[in-house]
Amino acid sequence: MTEGEFRRIYQFVKGRYGIDLERKKEMIQGRLENFLRANGYGSYTEYMDAVESDITGAKEKQLVDILTTNHTFFMREFEHFDFLKQVVLPELKKKEEKKRDLCIWCGAASTGQEPYMLAMLLRDFFCFEEKPWDTKVLATDVSTKALQYAAKGIYEREQVTDLLPHWKHQYMHLVEDGVRYEMNPEIKEQILFRQFNLMDTFPFKRKMHIIFLRNVMIYFDKDTKRELIQKIYDVMEPGGYLFVGRTETIDRGALPLELICPSVFRKK
Ligand SMILES: C[S@@+](CC[C@H](N)C(=O)[O-])C[C@H]1O[C@@H](n2cnc3c(N)ncnc32)[C@H](O)[C@@H]1O
Repeated sequence: MTEGEFRRIYQFVKGRYGIDLERKKEMIQGRLENFLRANGYGSYTEYMDAVESDITGAKEKQLVDILTTNHTFFMREFEHFDFLKQVVLPELKKKEEKKRDLCIWCGAASTGQEPYMLAMLLRDFFCFEEKPWDTKVLATDVSTKALQYAAKGIYEREQVTDLLPHWKHQYMHLVEDGVRYEMNPEIKEQILFRQFNLMDTFPFKRKMHIIFLRNVMIYFDKDTKRELIQKIYDVMEPGGYLFVGRTETIDRGALPLELICPSVFRKK
């Protein structure tokens, strides 16, 4: 990969998806090399010409699938789920008692573990209510492949080892092969999986009560992060909560976003 080819890929990905791969030349090369060879491309230039001239967008989607890092797992940063259960849901339940409708968005859903945990927690919390609550979770990601995996809702035994036993028994079942677990229909139905690039204009008509945007801004530079936080702030309901990854920092600027505890913010 020449320096020019590297810059072309880096600028393409950063310009469209915000993902900053400036110091990741080896990673790009490592992930693309075999793919190019297997698909008969003679060079990175030939490949990028094909990506950029493909009006269906399919080749670009494939590139995004290859270059995004979809690492996630059940029970990741579980303190956030405890906090939801102990503080956020009781508070929102009181506040929205009349409408019984919460808007929840998981903006980097990857292969689904995070939105499924949200759906299970919400089900636990609201299932004994006399009148039903609408607590659908909108789960988006830019990677087509990750979302396809997520929508299937099937996980290997090792992936669910650490899951709360109650969640595994109540909301999952063993598939016919006897080794993998699948989310039950009532949990799958709780989630709407959609492809969405966080760099695009937000199309949401309603304001969000809870936003999970964990471990994705680590791939963006400072300016991209600042612009994204502004957009996020704009779609939050007053009193709504934003959860970011435990190791992430955000520049709130002058935005009235209160830091409630590490990596949890509330719109005033
Ligand atoms: C490391 S995973 C984090 C998954 C999960 N939130 C967690 O904390 O375990 C980051 C995810 O962000 C997605 N992503 C990266 N850039 C994105 C963008 N511009 N728009 C939407 N999703 C993006 C990737 O496809 C990937 O699935």
